Amino acid sequence: MKSSMILKASMVAAFSLLGLSSASAQDARTLKDAYKDAFKIGAAVSSFDLNERSAKTQELLLTQFNALSIGNEMKPESLHPQPDVWNWRGGDAYVEWGKAHGMWLLGHTLCWHNQTPAFFWNDGNGNPKPKRELFNTIERYIETVCTHYLGKVDAWDVINEIVSEEGGYRDLGWVHALGGKTEDVDEFIKHVFRCAAKYAPDTELYYNEFNVWRPSKLAGVIRLVKMLQADGIRIDGVGIQAHWGLNYPENHYIDEAIDQLAALGVKVMITEIDVDVLPISKEGQVIGKSLQEAQYQLEEFEKFLDPYKDGLPAEVEAQHAARYQELFQIFYNHRDQIDRVTFWGTHDGSSWKNGSPIPRRTNYALLWNRDYTPHKAFDLVVDVPNPKPAKAAKKRK
Ligand code: GLA
Repeated sequence: MKSSMILKASMVAAFSLLGLSSASAQDARTLKDAYKDAFKIGAAVSSFDLNERSAKTQELLLTQFNALSIGNEMKPESLHPQPDVWNWRGGDAYVEWGKAHGMWLLGHTLCWHNQTPAFFWNDGNGNPKPKRELFNTIERYIETVCTHYLGKVDAWDVINEIVSEEGGYRDLGWVHALGGKTEDVDEFIKHVFRCAAKYAPDTELYYNEFNVWRPSKLAGVIRLVKMLQADGIRIDGVGIQAHWGLNYPENHYIDEAIDQLAALGVKVMITEIDVDVLPISKEGQVIGKSLQEAQYQLEEFEKFLDPYKDGLPAEVEAQHAARYQELFQIFYNHRDQIDRVTFWGTHDGSSWKNGSPIPRRTNYALLWNRDYTPHKAFDLVVDVPNPKPAKAAKKRK
């Protein structure tokens, strides 16, 4: 069966599961239709979302989205948890479901400091590996993973989050193992992208980063892209993660980051959007684990830090809607430069923002509530490309 036929058949099945007729399916306004001439619309999923127990999530995916990212199951700690163990189950389920349903698929992520076992960097005795061993380790890893998924994913996030807020490199993971010298890390980054180009031909290759809007960090990302380009090493795009909040970043920063990255001739993607509505993370992305300290779980802090356990007050729902609307207006204005906008999750219950940077909170970061009803933001976002005609002004008496 052609993938478009499979897609249609599974949409009908998904709608009938929810008691909707396929006619109402066609009438429904959807994100992917609203933005079909602008950019792809993606969601991050887990293999659990794609099994038989998650029919409602799949209905959302099939009706609203045309691109997928995999949240965790293609990270090094999932695919290669121990030196002699490879675990393809989650990733394979993802590519199988995604391909069967005609989705564009991202592999995420080959090289990162986080969710990567220490044996990537240390030898059997826990001592740091020498530089050539580190280069060899990442090459064998990329070879194995990219060969396994060759022709099955459309793109790879090749390196994730290696640039610091100041624009240098973060002294973590690979950078730390290499000793942190800029020249060595530059060489390593070139090696990693060269390996990806070698073992993942015909697959797009991206750099993915958070807080790219910050001018000092943006400069570091631009330096990285230019460095690869100067050596003729393939990089096809840059992902702006967009873990943002009700009150940050200022919109002009977003415009500037998109323009400056697009000027490099690479695709720009908004790769992991969510809008945090809780204190204090609605004001800025908290890096690290400081807010996980037990004192912040005390009653007096809990009231302040987790105020919407019983539901989102109407005024915050309105702020959440307005924030999503203005963000999508920015993306739409830049539609010639943006290739894809991906949400980091589907409904609020699936968001990492309930657990980070403070564990066990009730956040409302996405376009659907926990019961799969849409937030007000959904309507406003869908309307951005086709604004409703303004209501005629009332005639004066
Ligand atoms: C980063 C990573 C993602 C994910 C999110 C939080 O942005 O790129 O894989 O871990 O953090 O869930």
